[in-house]
Amino acid sequence: MTPSTAPGGGPGSAERSAAWELLLPAASAPARARGRALQAALRDAVRSGRLAQGTRLPSSRDLAADLGVSRGLVTEAYEQLTAEGYLRSGRGAGTWVGDAVRATRPPARDLAPRSPGARVDFVAGSPDLSLFPRPAWAAAQRSVLTELPHDHLGYPDPRGLPRLRTALAELLTRRRGVVADPERIVVVSGVAQASALLGGVLHARGTHTVGVEDPGSPQHTALYASAGVGTVPLPLDEEGLAVGPLRASGVRAVVTTPAHQFPTGIAYSARRRTELLDWARSVDGLVLEDDYDGDFRYDRAPVGALQGLDAEHVAYTGSVSKSLAPGLRLGWLLVPESLMDEVVERKRTTDLGHPALDQAVFARFLEHGDYDRQLRLCQRAYRERRDALVAALEEHFPGSRVSGIAAGLHAIAALPARYDPEERFLAAVAEAGVSVRPLTAYGHAGGGEGPGVRLVLGYAHLAPARIREGVRLMAGAVRPGGR
Ligand SMILES: Cc1ncc(COP(=O)(O)O)c(C=O)c1O
Repeated sequence: MTPSTAPGGGPGSAERSAAWELLLPAASAPARARGRALQAALRDAVRSGRLAQGTRLPSSRDLAADLGVSRGLVTEAYEQLTAEGYLRSGRGAGTWVGDAVRATRPPARDLAPRSPGARVDFVAGSPDLSLFPRPAWAAAQRSVLTELPHDHLGYPDPRGLPRLRTALAELLTRRRGVVADPERIVVVSGVAQASALLGGVLHARGTHTVGVEDPGSPQHTALYASAGVGTVPLPLDEEGLAVGPLRASGVRAVVTTPAHQFPTGIAYSARRRTELLDWARSVDGLVLEDDYDGDFRYDRAPVGALQGLDAEHVAYTGSVSKSLAPGLRLGWLLVPESLMDEVVERKRTTDLGHPALDQAVFARFLEHGDYDRQLRLCQRAYRERRDALVAALEEHFPGSRVSGIAAGLHAIAALPARYDPEERFLAAVAEAGVSVRPLTAYGHAGGGEGPGVRLVLGYAHLAPARIREGVRLMAGAVRPGGR
């Protein structure tokens, strides 16, 4: 006897017969306990998912015959479990597994990082997810699903679909001044994967330490550590990563964010870029360029990527995490020729290539100008928000110095000394429901200019009114006399 499945799904046939086998031990229980054992076994089968919601049960006559028990026992078991909500029955429609199990099985937990429920959260680095271009993305998805040849659904080139690499090469050359040969692009699941791949390749080559900016992104340290590569924090000066300490450190690879240093917002000077590349050549080393928010420039000409000046000593990476949405997990990595084979092999053995459909959709999105449109839209929105933040800080925290505002999705506000000490300030604003992080949270050198409250304020994800509210709440929290 093979149980059938009601519309709405059910387990595969092997699982289904296994589910009935689960009932056999109950059938051979001592006669007195047999009825209860049958009910318990049936209940367990539903709870554990062996009998999935919607599975139609055999008639009581068939099941009784299969199990070698009396039909009355089966009827009783069906009635009891129906009363408990595990089974459902309809006149003439038989008996099937109900949905009570949903209530008994705990839902999967969600470990995605979320904002902590503050009234206003100035977390740095998040774009406005409500600006995600759903209609254009949906159109791209539809057209890709309609047009994509079947064989494009096989394992993709581990570097990425040629169509996407071609479109990315055009984009990155045009917008970021990158030397972008499509043959040297690897499509990855974000800067995070690019870092893990590079870290793995460096480690395999005997490089067990890389330099990182201090203050800098905690992600860099964590990602390289996951590849077994340690990090040496290196200080910045007003032009970017300080080259003296870099030379003295003895590292031969360094992770940088030259277009808009994270988190200080410094744009590396032309001189510093040259010095950095001179260093890389002199030690036959590598600069790892994280162009995480290089797309957003407000009042100055775009600063081209460092990679455009020396593609053999710079590995360049970026993603759509700031321009579209981090949840897409889509980015790119351009590597010097000397590392290409090892990076591609590592990408291949990591996941056999990036999801083909996502790549094709993004390629179409780029080809039709949708990405450029999205960048223009965000650029306008984020500039307005940046202006709202600067104005609100001027109004509520007069005397503050706001920096790093020419680009990116966040700014640094150095507050006047009257707001010291930092711990007291942070406790008071947290109490008022505002979540902010101090620069000191991003590294040892975060307090380099002496004491003072310096805040890293992400603004792109907040509407101007929320930005004003957040700054007003902060000011109210630290004003003598409180809110
Ligand atoms: C400076 C910096 N680079 C890269 C990343 C990770 O980016 P992706 O989403 O592209 O992996 C982050 C995310 O927190 C970041 O802060």
